[in-house]
Order: sequence, then structure tokens, then C-alpha cells
Amino acid sequence: MRAKTNMAARAFALLRHNKLHYSLTTTSRRMTSSNVAPASRLEGIDKNVWIEFTTLASQHNAVNLGQGFPDFSPPNYVKEVLSKVVVSGDQMMNQYTRGFGHPRLVENISKLFGPLLGVDVDPYKEVLVTVGAYGSLFCSIMAFVQPGDEVIIIEPFFDCYQPMVKLAGGTPRFIPLRATSSGGSSRDWKLDPDELKLMFNDKTKAIVLNTPNNPLGKVYSRDELTMIAELCIEHDCLCISDEVYEWLLYEGCTHTRIGSLPGMWERTITIGSAGKTFSVTGWKIGWSIGPSNLMKHLHTVSQNSIYNCPTPIQEAVAQGLEHEMSRFGTEDCYFKSLPRELEVKRDHLASILREVGMEPILPQGGYFILADASKLKVDLSDSAGSGENYDYRLVKWITRNKQVATIPNSAFYSDEHKDIAEKYIRFCFCKKDETIDKMEKIFKEWAKTM
Ligand SMILES: Cc1ncc(COP(=O)(O)O)c(C=O)c1O
Repeated sequence: MRAKTNMAARAFALLRHNKLHYSLTTTSRRMTSSNVAPASRLEGIDKNVWIEFTTLASQHNAVNLGQGFPDFSPPNYVKEVLSKVVVSGDQMMNQYTRGFGHPRLVENISKLFGPLLGVDVDPYKEVLVTVGAYGSLFCSIMAFVQPGDEVIIIEPFFDCYQPMVKLAGGTPRFIPLRATSSGGSSRDWKLDPDELKLMFNDKTKAIVLNTPNNPLGKVYSRDELTMIAELCIEHDCLCISDEVYEWLLYEGCTHTRIGSLPGMWERTITIGSAGKTFSVTGWKIGWSIGPSNLMKHLHTVSQNSIYNCPTPIQEAVAQGLEHEMSRFGTEDCYFKSLPRELEVKRDHLASILREVGMEPILPQGGYFILADASKLKVDLSDSAGSGENYDYRLVKWITRNKQVATIPNSAFYSDEHKDIAEKYIRFCFCKKDETIDKMEKIFKEWAKTM
């Protein structure tokens, strides 16, 4: 009995000791917290619009027209290819593959994009496969931008460009597209050539271009791209061209790759995304294409960060590209059939927005619509003191009160130009008709009360 009591006492003492030790350890950790302070390069880039608004959408079980992913199925054959790859007898399909890109994938990327860019693309030296287009943007910016460098970013811009430039130590310089005439089509939003000229100087390392653009849907014309190209050549700077929505074009619009313009292959990194191409955003495979003297530096960043992308997914994307190349230019090709379906959704969503008192900017490409929501009669007095822009407050109000999730346009602008942005909110239309119908019902009911 006594032995048992002693044992219990010892165990208790040990526990207390450990507890004390634990609390001492945590206290000393707290006291030395400066040793684990984050790198200063993270300052000011901790907020992220997707985390904030995706969380809000799920908290309110909202109809999600916010984040840019299709809620419909990708082509069946694409899903089947992936499942077959994984269970195939080829055990190497489940192991590491070549670091800079799975051979079958880089070869197909070079076969498809070489002719479109007007060059012979060396699959092994001039292509890099990355974790989504995000990975390609990251490798491009990290490979070339350093403290002292300026990078021109055209607004509205896909939100990660700015923090990536900052992470690399560079300085983003912003120039907005401005509405000419009514501004009712993305075609009306243009760069002022004189304003753009003034952005270039001897510190300019690169310009980031996004065509078709997210969130505006602008598809740059050949003339507009030629004007940008001439400035890049004159100032000997790099063009990082984000073309993830390259196949999503409406009203007979064509996509011009800036890398195919005279003198531009030498200084352009063209970025694409399998997620956007095949409606499989969760697969997170992207690529960069450019001349070998530039690409070798992206390879260096990749080999020292991610090293290797998932083999079976690369194999499936490779087979997907092969299949689409075999029917390229036909109406059945997914690169043509997807935009045909999306154009109907675009027009449907635009008409709903007009009916409820918003003014959409009709996009020429991509899968988003910006709508001027400044005339909506919504009482936002509750959030008046929050310091947030009108569109942030409105989007939060709509998500909470109407259970429809969208994204505020000022997330795609720098602080200096948020005034141009804040009357618009972004809707995504790569959604099932059923999803858009649900939103329509809610908005029409709401309109009756305004
Ligand atoms: C313009 C733009 N670039 C890049 C990306 C990232 O693409 P991925 O999902 O392939 O990383 C997105 C995703 O929404 C985008 O809209």
C-alpha cells in the first residue's frame, strides 16, 4: 500500500516537474520571441483576399461566385486518364519524375506552344513545369527581381503579383487600365501610352502582363501588345506574361501571345495553367516557356524550392494536351467547346446583374465579370467606421445577408488606385447553370425590396 502511495507521489511530482518545466519552457519561449520573429520581407503581405473571402463564403454557406474555379465536371476523359495512370502497371508513374517537368508533358507543351509562339521550343531547356501558374510566377519573379529593381504591374492585376515582387525585394510600380468611352466592355479599358512610357526607367526589370485579364476580362489587342513590346525592347526589360485564360475568348476575340511579337521571344516568359485549361484547378500544374538563357534561372529557383511536381498529374495533363492537339481547331476541341459554353453563362449572368441594378463590364475573355455596384441601395452604415473600401464592405454585406459570395475589385489594385476600383465587385461565371440560377433567384427577390 505504502509502496503504491510512494509511486503515486513520485508520479505526481514528476508531472508537476514536467508541467513546471513546460510552463518555464513556454515562458522562456515567449521571452525570446524576437529570435523567431518573421523575416522582414513578410511585412505587409500577410493578408490574402482568398483566405478571407473563402472563409466568409463557407461560414455563410453562400452560393459561391467568388473564387475562380469551375463547380462543373472537367471533361470525363481527363479524369479517366488520371485514374488510369495511377493504377497502370507502370510503377514509375507513382514515383518522382524529371525535376523540371515530366518528359511527356514538356514535349507536348513544346509541340503545342512552339507553333503558337512562332519558335522551336526546346522541351528540355525552354520549358518548366511548376505547381500551378502560381509556381511559374514565383520562379520568374524570384529568378530576376532583386532589391533596387522595379516591376511594372498593370491594374487590375491578379493579386499575388504584388507580394511576390515584394518577397523578391523589388518595388512594384502600378499603372491602371482606364475606362475610355462607356467602359461597359473590357475592350473600353486601356492603358494610356504616355503614362506607360513614364513608368519605364533604368531600374525597370520587368513588366507583368495578364491577357485575358483577371478580373476585368480584357484581351489585349495586337496593337496594344506591340506598344508594350516596343517599350520592353527599348528599355531592355523582361515581360512576364500570364496567359492562364488563353483559350477563354468570346465574341470572336483572338489571343495574341506577346512572346510571338518581333523581338519579344528573347525577353518573354509565357505562363500557362493546366487547372484553367482543363477545368481542374485542384491539379495545380502550370508551366513557363521562354528562351533557354532565361529559363535556366527559373530552373534554378525551382530546383531549390519545389524541385518536382506530382508525376501522375503531369502524365494526365500530357495525355490531355495530346488529345486536344489531335482535334485542335475543331469545334470538339475543349479549347473551343469550353468558351462556347462559358459565353452563354457570361451573358446570362450579365443580364441578371443588369436586372438588379448593377452595370456589368462585359468581358472579352476569362471567366469573371466586374459589375458596378455603386447604385445598389444597401445600408452599410454598420461598417462605415471599419476603414475598409466600399466594395469590401458591400461584398461582406451581400455574403452575410444574401448568402452570395463575390470578390471585391479593390483586392486587384494597389492602395494608390483603390478609388478607381471600389465601385465594382467580381463575379465568377464558370459555374453550373444551377449555381447561377440560385444566385438569380436570390438577387431578384432582393431587387424587389430595393
Ligand atoms: C491571372 C491568374 N494567374 C494565375 C493564376 C493561378 O493559376 P494556378 O491555379 O494554375 O496556379 C490564376 C488563378 O486564378 C489567375 O487568375
